[in-house]
Amino acid sequence: MVIVKNLVKKYGSVVASNHLNCRFETGKVTVILGGSGSGKSTLLRQVTGLEKPDSGEVLFDGLDLTRATREQLYEKRKKMGMLFQGAALFNYLTIFENIAFPLREHTQIADNVIKTIVTMKLEMVGLRGTEDLMPSQLSGGMMKRVGLARAIVMDPKIIFYDEPTSGLDPISTGVIDKLIRDLNRKLNITSVVVSHDIESCFRIADRIIILYYGDIIAEGTVEEIRNSTDPRVIQFINGNPEGPIPFTRTDKNYLDEILS
Ligand SMILES: Nc1ncnc2c1ncn2[C@@H]1O[C@H](COP(=O)(O)OP(=O)(O)OP(=O)(O)O)[C@@H](O)[C@H]1O
Ligand SMILES: [Mg+2]
Repeated sequence: MVIVKNLVKKYGSVVASNHLNCRFETGKVTVILGGSGSGKSTLLRQVTGLEKPDSGEVLFDGLDLTRATREQLYEKRKKMGMLFQGAALFNYLTIFENIAFPLREHTQIADNVIKTIVTMKLEMVGLRGTEDLMPSQLSGGMMKRVGLARAIVMDPKIIFYDEPTSGLDPISTGVIDKLIRDLNRKLNITSVVVSHDIESCFRIADRIIILYYGDIIAEGTVEEIRNSTDPRVIQFINGNPEGPIPFTRTDKNYLDEILS
């Protein structure tokens, strides 16, 4: 569904995307893993057309988003759902209006139909009856589920999730993981999940991509990643980014040294 070709994005001397090549296959859950600053969000922004790369291509259903017109991009973006980090709900709108927002922005659907759609989406994320509450009245996990209901309100073909479970307890994490899998399996929605959470990643992923200072250092199935012999991958999947191999940018030279 999405093919990334030779994508380059630099911020000053920082190479956030270093000639990236990858694909997000239709109907699959792809998880993008990587330490802080490895370029995960930057990749998402380019793939969703929010930011232009310096060079390279992003083919979405065959259309190169980096060269698309505004109208073409707008049409493609209607097929994408996004769950932003921290849910990004509008604090001054009720749960109902938050979820209805994309429908009011992008369609002419009548109010009574909007009501049916919103009720259905809330039901899907297990939050029926919360229509009239304000975001401040919800827990963090509930807010993410409302964000998810809003992400699916336009019936997207692909959903991008930026850190959907960060800051959540294990049970809320499990609920979100199950929702991501259910949406993928039952509605066949292609999913791209940016995550720090290795356990959650292994539960939901069909394919995993690991980023490291702008490079893809590993790509494969859960099984392939688990069996990787790359020390950076092993350390990362052992959940120890601050461990013997330092993952902070200032230590990259040191790291290159001990690995060479
Ligand atoms: N708009 C920007 N201007 C300047 N530098 C940026 C910008 N966006 C990202 N960067 C830099 O690019 C690199 C990758 O950032 P990015 O946000 O993609 O990382 P990330 O993997 O999403 O990290 P995190 O897990 O902390 O969210 C970082 O070094 C960051 O400082
Ligand atoms: Mg990020």
